[in-house]
Amino acid sequence: MASNVPKADIVLGIQWGDEGKGRVVDSYCADYDVVARFGGGDNAGHTLVVGDRKLALRIVPSGVLQDRPELFIGGGTVVSLEGLVAELDMLAGIGVDISRVKISDRAHVVFPYHAALDRANETSRGDAAIGTTGRGIGPAYTDKAARYGITFGDLRKREALADKIRYNLVSRSAVFSSMGAAPREEDVVGSTLSLIPRVLSHVVDGVAFVHDALEGGKRILIEGAQGTLLDVGYGTYPYVTSSHTIAGGACTGLGIGPTAIGSVVGIAKAYCTRVGAGPFPTELFDDVGDALRERGGEFGTVTGRPRRCGWFDAVAARYAVRVNGLTSAVITKLDVLSGLDKIAIATGYRSGGRSAGFGSANETDLELEYAWYDGWSEDLSAIRKIDDLPPAARRYVDALEAALAVPIEAVSLGPERAALAIR
Ligand code: GDP
Ligand code: IMO
Ligand code: MG
Repeated sequence: MASNVPKADIVLGIQWGDEGKGRVVDSYCADYDVVARFGGGDNAGHTLVVGDRKLALRIVPSGVLQDRPELFIGGGTVVSLEGLVAELDMLAGIGVDISRVKISDRAHVVFPYHAALDRANETSRGDAAIGTTGRGIGPAYTDKAARYGITFGDLRKREALADKIRYNLVSRSAVFSSMGAAPREEDVVGSTLSLIPRVLSHVVDGVAFVHDALEGGKRILIEGAQGTLLDVGYGTYPYVTSSHTIAGGACTGLGIGPTAIGSVVGIAKAYCTRVGAGPFPTELFDDVGDALRERGGEFGTVTGRPRRCGWFDAVAARYAVRVNGLTSAVITKLDVLSGLDKIAIATGYRSGGRSAGFGSANETDLELEYAWYDGWSEDLSAIRKIDDLPPAARRYVDALEAALAVPIEAVSLGPERAALAIR
């Protein structure tokens, strides 16, 4: 059955976030008319490096340093007004035309009290804390599911908005009083009203925006946030974020059907990292883990926390290929492995005496099977063709491709836009 529905392409992370999605989107989006975020909020931190300019974006899609694309924040996101205004100001300050930024009327507002609730929830979890970014993401999605969230569309109706904020605070009053710090209604309403004029010109009918673009023949690049293994349904629950980060989340987060999706490109680091708590089967607690952290600059963009580091996990990667329906992959940060003597890929899990899948990642008796590869010492930063990689690096990339069972279309060899080797 042939389909003539116009297609949008997805770039998303297939590990625990920070795979280099922003960097890849920046390189890829010159050919696109729209770059769209579909989920998460300012828990994301996407870094772009072009020449000596370095930019960390939290909410606005990573197409800002290309002139062409419109930058769409989709209905599945949760967005702090303060965070959005600060980011728009920052972008305007470096000369970006911020009229290119559009936000769906379906996106939900994250209020400062969501962040306070997030931190209080974490404290009450004690040793079981998730290690959230403290940005209020979980509480904002909780409000959305509980049907008293406030959307960007609601910002247009000032009178009703004050009532909604009041209801929102009242329904939380028991929690706030147990925290000993209930936000004052007039403060929340006052600060919200003062920010509305700064964002309202960016608010659009999100469904019409996306479909008009598709039907008008515009090319849309969809930018994932977080990573597959942080998905609220299919990640390492409960150590996950509160949204669907997988390819299906792009459909619900933008209001498009699966028939509107073209390619699904998965981004993976050449090793693994994770920030926050939760299962990480290949985590390294030795000098190699420390070396990856130092060489890879593995410190959180949002929180500055050191990222946990470990070997590439092919069991997790194959799982991610499945749940996203990946059509191809991009490997980032291969340069960070230069200089290591030996490099490992986890090829299998065993639990309860038998071979196990990614669902067993949290089992206490988990054993890992590794395949080992020779390292290389060459500087890779000037290489632009995968075929030109030194033989040992090429063998490692081939092993990753065999493990993923989808084509690796590009390998990133540095943070800078141009440092990308293709086929
Ligand atoms: P994102 O959240 O997936 O967009 O990734 P982050 O921006 O949070 O983290 C990726 C980090 O690695 C950023 O500091 C990037 O500048 C950097 N980076 C991306 N690709 C490469 C690469 O191929 N090599 C090196 N050395 N750094 C990279
Ligand atoms: P980008 O888009 C890495 C992690 C947090 C925590 C868990 C829940 O830059 O890849 P949350 O604040 O979402 O409730 O935290 O998810 N996390 C990320 N880790 N990169 C991200 O985004 C992340 N966004 C959330 O560290 O473990
Ligand atoms: Mg990041």
